[in-house]
Amino acid sequence: MKKRKGIILAGGSATRLYPLTLAISKQMMPVYDKPMIYYPLSVLMEAQMQEILLISTPRDIATFQALLGDGRKWGMKFFYKVQEKPNGLAEAFTIGEEFIGQDSVAMILGDNMFYGEHLREVLKRANERQEEATIFGYLVKNPSAYGVVEIDKDGNALSIEEKPQQPKSNYAVPGLYFYPSGVSQIAKTIKPSARGELEITDINEFYRKQGKLKVEKLGRGMTWFDTGTHDALLETASFVQTIQKRQRLQISCPEEIAYENKWITKEELLQLAMPFMKTEYGRYLKELAEDKLGG
Ligand code: G1P
Repeated sequence: MKKRKGIILAGGSATRLYPLTLAISKQMMPVYDKPMIYYPLSVLMEAQMQEILLISTPRDIATFQALLGDGRKWGMKFFYKVQEKPNGLAEAFTIGEEFIGQDSVAMILGDNMFYGEHLREVLKRANERQEEATIFGYLVKNPSAYGVVEIDKDGNALSIEEKPQQPKSNYAVPGLYFYPSGVSQIAKTIKPSARGELEITDINEFYRKQGKLKVEKLGRGMTWFDTGTHDALLETASFVQTIQKRQRLQISCPEEIAYENKWITKEELLQLAMPFMKTEYGRYLKELAEDKLGG
């Protein structure tokens, strides 16, 4: 399979989380036992993306570099770029133009988290589509708060609208997007919307008009987390805690995915576990390396 690059957009001022985010990036907030950014990063890793561009604000970029480094410890390569102002999601593809080069790309928002047994299969299908764009559809009670997509029986997008007052379906579009090579050129043609942002929905509309916008439904058993408010942040953390305590299996653990993808060896995994041995996280990594998780 042709390699695809990944972008994480971790910008914005997160005013809905004030005062938490007055001095620290939202995507650095703890979600139970790990920083929020680990969750979207893990999704790109599950989709086999080894080269990742992280885009953040002038204030926050250095903290992400301190946390993640150059990616070598996980057998990956991380690159960093600044988004000067919150000009919208579509700007990620012009900021990332050089990084993307001639490759296809996926972008995930730094506050979007996905969990579920079928995630790998869905990501694989999206990954294999080199000529068309893929977005996802998730049933929600309040579609007006999101991008909304109408889907035909073959998984094509019939319409896509940004936060419509009268939504044509109940399928929200989560912040995870797969595009073919050439998306940066399309991003350059987008004009700011009424809210003054370069909308990702306009990029998706471009592909839809060409009959090249596929939608993968995330069905029952798949969870898409939204962490934009104090309550949502706490609820998401509780969800992670509940699953991890009950099953012991980690949700979105980059070291584990790097090991499963064979990007790091058993010895490297053990090395990574060592500084964390006062935590359940560290003990988990050690048992994983020793093949003892199943008992
Ligand atoms: C953005 C997108 C929207 C999408 C949402 C997912 O909204 O514009 O289409 O459904 O992310 O989190 P925003 O968070 O910028 O309001």
